[in-house]
Amino acid sequence: MSTLPTRRSFALGAGATLFAALTSRKGFSAPSQQQRVVVHPAVEIGTVSPLLHGSFAEHLGSCIYGGLWVGRNSPIPNINGHRRQAVDYLKALGVPVLRWPGGCFADDYHWRDGIGPPARRPQSVNIHWGNYVEDNSFGTHEFIELCRLIDAEPYLAGNVGSGTPRELRDWVEYCNYPSGSSLAEERAANGSREPFRVRYWGVGNENWGCGGNMSPEDYASEFRRFVTYVRTFGDTRPFTIACGPNGNDVEWTRRFMETIGPNVVRGRGVFPSGYAMHFYSNGRDVPTKFTVENMQEQLSSFARLEQGIVVQRGLLDSYLQAFAGPPRGPSGIVPPRPQVHLLIDEWGVWDRMIPEEEKRYGRLWMQSTQRSAVAAAMGLNVFHRQADKLYMCNIAQTVNVLHSVVLAHQDNCLRTTSYYAFQMQKPHRCKTAVRAETGDSSPLGISVSASRKDGELVLTLVNPKHDLHMKVNCALVGATAVSGQAQLLYHPDFNACNSFENPDVVTPKPHPVSVAGAGVALELPPISIAAVSLKLA
Ligand code: AHR
Repeated sequence: MSTLPTRRSFALGAGATLFAALTSRKGFSAPSQQQRVVVHPAVEIGTVSPLLHGSFAEHLGSCIYGGLWVGRNSPIPNINGHRRQAVDYLKALGVPVLRWPGGCFADDYHWRDGIGPPARRPQSVNIHWGNYVEDNSFGTHEFIELCRLIDAEPYLAGNVGSGTPRELRDWVEYCNYPSGSSLAEERAANGSREPFRVRYWGVGNENWGCGGNMSPEDYASEFRRFVTYVRTFGDTRPFTIACGPNGNDVEWTRRFMETIGPNVVRGRGVFPSGYAMHFYSNGRDVPTKFTVENMQEQLSSFARLEQGIVVQRGLLDSYLQAFAGPPRGPSGIVPPRPQVHLLIDEWGVWDRMIPEEEKRYGRLWMQSTQRSAVAAAMGLNVFHRQADKLYMCNIAQTVNVLHSVVLAHQDNCLRTTSYYAFQMQKPHRCKTAVRAETGDSSPLGISVSASRKDGELVLTLVNPKHDLHMKVNCALVGATAVSGQAQLLYHPDFNACNSFENPDVVTPKPHPVSVAGAGVALELPPISIAAVSLKLA
């Protein structure tokens, strides 16, 4: 269970050389080394769902208020209160799905506080993120409008910790019932005759912690009770998402499945459609002052993320297989195995905060550097390599908070380094992930993902080493390329970032790639990301 079948290592060829070379970047030299990558365009893993590139926006710090939402009367350019520049950036990125309103905040959020005339909405205290008062001017209608503006699918996280089954059930009806019920008419009176057709419903968040400090058994019973009332209202069948483990916590999954499963088998409940694990890669430094040692430690954690996906998927499958039971009846019909999809609906780097920045920009405000972009690209590479095991992944978070893709303050708004990591990985969406092998499967070995569709092969190659310039030779097995293009995200200082003063310090640039039949070669400077698109013969 602990092996990673899609990343086989093989011995480096005897010709591998290590020699000193100066990179093309001014003032930086690192020894360079040949790296062999073997891509098997015919060995398919699964489709790269766009949902693997999802995002997450919480009422936390300035993610919503002051970030995405500036208010209708703001002098900052906006569309009905939504920051126009952020909308443009997120729409261009193509955020496929947006989770809201938390996080921890979700289990203390009461959706009725955020509907109706804004002036009449209550002032609520955000108990998780600093006890500040929110005016609830951003509620369900505003969130759905934001999703429509950026073309994202909405994902609403319901309140289990301090809410009731009725409150969650009513939210689903309010959003999805077409017309005629009091809740549907209230939605219409509040501006939307059309149902919102929300498909993704979280049933609690981190219920092992801020979502109620529950045991897996307690949570499984709560989940069973709440989910009973999350129904198909109108034409939208809800996809329910249960709270999964913190990282690869097998104990939580075992005890959750062992509580819920037998009950489902006895007809007392339903399995969730999805099960969401959270995975944060902690950093010991403040973002722009990482030491080499702490960067290595953080980047190494993506091997654990991959391991966690394999282990959690395997665990879920073993329980589902067992619950499906043996063939039944005289004809020996095998009952269909229930499906529970695996999500990672919060992931990313979580570095040390700078108190003055948090004071100025809000809680968990975090810069994104060249290192953070490499971390994002490594995470996305993991998701592509494990595309057959995952349903959705959501970076934490969209704006200003933690591993964000956009930073916004007053009338400034910029794309972070991590925005570009996502942008460069976009071509993988809807393609078939295929096997790529590297000569170094250690946690800081070259990170690769590959996908193919209609004569195009897309590769993302990441160099997580600070002291090695990689000369990559990539062999295509059973295929040849006729042409190729590449982009590189690189800065000689891995602590470099895009700031409000200098928003374009780190941006992708065209990068040379040489294509000769089944061989593709390019260079990867230390702590860099290359996105390659190849036209196959
Ligand atoms: O993303 C920040 C917080 O991290 C979320 O609110 C919570 O779910 C997690 O612990």
